[in-house]
Amino acid sequence: MSGAHLHPPEFEILIPADRIAARVQELGAQITRDYAGKELTLVGVLKGSLLFMADLAREIRLPLTCDFLRVSSYEGTKSSGVVRFDFDLTQPIKDKHVLVIEDIIDTGLTMSFLLENFRLRQPASLKVATLLDKPENRRTAVGIDYVGFTIENRFVIGYGLDLDGKYRNLPYIAALAR
Ligand code: IMP
Repeated sequence: MSGAHLHPPEFEILIPADRIAARVQELGAQITRDYAGKELTLVGVLKGSLLFMADLAREIRLPLTCDFLRVSSYEGTKSSGVVRFDFDLTQPIKDKHVLVIEDIIDTGLTMSFLLENFRLRQPASLKVATLLDKPENRRTAVGIDYVGFTIENRFVIGYGLDLDGKYRNLPYIAALAR
């Protein structure tokens, strides 16, 4: 795949597809062990979690359901911390074992908003899985239960992550070159 320059020239491959697949397999096995005997509700945060969730779900050997939501920050300023639902889950999560699936946790503002909101709905349990964690930029503490890769504070695209809406379909993660 690396020979095909699907990403813009100023980006370089950071995590190739085979490393992502291996890590997703490990996370799936771990989640399968941790939730043994339980039924799981995967909640994907659109659009970024699309590829990660599709692959992770196939590595979890448990009965599960999938639901989705979409949030955005007011005025496009992620730093404001004001997040609103574009659309919400289709099913109640009361008494469910909920695992929220994100593509990346950066400032942590989106996830802390979601967790606060979901707690009010009284799930049986509430955990977080993210493909990428960029802890350097954190503005609020977020408990993350499953992390694919911890990365430096660089802008990344691919495998669900976008640049102006594009590049979500790259099978690898690419980072803006320094
Ligand atoms: P947070 O609220 O700052 O943690 O932001 C989380 C959201 O910001 C993610 O779901 C992404 O949509 C977006 N985001 C943060 N960093 C990146 C990046 O490097 N590339 C693409 N999107 C990003």
